[in-house]
Amino acid sequence: MQILVIHGPNLNLLGTREPGVYGSVTLDQINAELSALAKKAGAKLDSFQSNHEGALIDRVQAAQGDGTTFIIINPAAYTHTSVGLRDALAGVAIPFVEVHLSNVHKREPFRHHSYFSDLAIGVICGLGAAGYRLALDYALSRPSP
Ligand code: DQA
Repeated sequence: MQILVIHGPNLNLLGTREPGVYGSVTLDQINAELSALAKKAGAKLDSFQSNHEGALIDRVQAAQGDGTTFIIINPAAYTHTSVGLRDALAGVAIPFVEVHLSNVHKREPFRHHSYFSDLAIGVICGLGAAGYRLALDYALSRPSP
């Protein structure tokens, strides 16, 4: 099992960015915890963050050739705008779970639509950093492809 965790724009600011909305855990802490949990379960985990749509698309495309078997993605603001990133995930056909720290459905109407949810196996939102752990638990529980 080789898991890729993708974080979209502004998630590099976690810890200081609107802590009332996104919590005080940093992205490094989230990634370190996920890596440790994956390692304990005998899985490989790589994480990638970018503020650039094309870089995120390139990373998804690269996943097709690098052995990635499952993707956990928080597309952040691109959730609501990016047909390109959606098409990349559809193109590589690697199963994925969509994660959001905040409950996007309790927030502004423009956050209610996702270009990813209908392609995702599942969506976790509103549980803060625990959402990533739950997504990883699910990924690790899947039979190896
Ligand atoms: C987010 C929700 C998005 O609407 C927002 O643009 C983000 C983070 C979340 O994790 O709650 O940057 O994906």
